[in-house]
Amino acid sequence: MINKFTNIKIPKYKLDYSIEKNKNIVQGSLTKNIKLPFSCRSGVCGTCKAKIIQGNVHANNKINHVLTESDINNNIILMCQAEPVSDLLELEIISPMPRQIQSGKPREIISEILSVKQITPEVIDISISVSKRFYFNLNQLSYMEILIPGLEIKEKYYISNFDKKNNQSNDGVINILVIKSKNLDVNEYLNKNLIAGEVITLKGPYADNNFPNFLTKPTLLLTNHTNIIKTLIIVNQLLSSGCNFPIMLISYFNDKKDIFLMEEMHKLQFLYKNFSYKITLQNQDGSNTSRFLLGSISKVINKIFPDLSSHYIYINGDESFLIEIRKKIIELEAKEENIYTDLYN
Ligand code: FES
Repeated sequence: MINKFTNIKIPKYKLDYSIEKNKNIVQGSLTKNIKLPFSCRSGVCGTCKAKIIQGNVHANNKINHVLTESDINNNIILMCQAEPVSDLLELEIISPMPRQIQSGKPREIISEILSVKQITPEVIDISISVSKRFYFNLNQLSYMEILIPGLEIKEKYYISNFDKKNNQSNDGVINILVIKSKNLDVNEYLNKNLIAGEVITLKGPYADNNFPNFLTKPTLLLTNHTNIIKTLIIVNQLLSSGCNFPIMLISYFNDKKDIFLMEEMHKLQFLYKNFSYKITLQNQDGSNTSRFLLGSISKVINKIFPDLSSHYIYINGDESFLIEIRKKIIELEAKEENIYTDLYN
């Protein structure tokens, strides 16, 4: 199996982390919250010069206005124009390391709404511009509050940025998926009252992940429709952090018309051969297909797994969902120490 990741080592700064091979070194490192020296990101300023000690890169020498012939002969590259090729890449950074990205001390940020789009009756996608000055870490699993005077909203709004290659805030735009609140018709309120051009206050980001981010066993994630956003974001993170073990997502919807983010699941399955997904439908006529299974998760899971003793299991849902699913997976030999539950409340 071809390794899609490169292990980057920068001994002088005791850095040792992995990035995807299809990203340049500056960009890939940012996705790991490591800010290397850079400025223009266009091959013009030379701030991102580094010497290769070990390994190979694919360097875009067409966009290189600063490397001399002697630099090139000495294995100096521009990290903003070089994608790793080898599984290991050891570098010596030439400029000093900059101040690192702050990881998520919540703060209030005045921002402008770019668009509000209803995805399903239950979910809306709000695109918001964020000043590039706020150079903080926006992991996909972090969430923000939307502060609107006179409206108290106690829900979490997950940062999605599903279709953005670079999910850092420095691209100036974040996408937040808002799901209908159980207690208040927040979704409807936001959809009607937030319009492009309006200025609102965001508070955050907050971190929300106690699930191990490096997996050493096959993993099964189980969720119902209200929690698909968060669960899919976890899947996304696991896959992009280089987990090679099989990961399966099983989600539960009432009906085919309620399904959302299926395109995202499909895209992930296409990108990562170790990922697969199944959707179970409660109220659906028609035949069982390999993608859609009829009945709740607890009814169909034993058709897929006779034994879950060697799996990590992540369950995300409300209390009754957690109780029902936990009971079922214990029947299928899942081990208590490998079960992570995430209560939606
Ligand atoms: S950041 Fe300016 S050349 Fe790479």
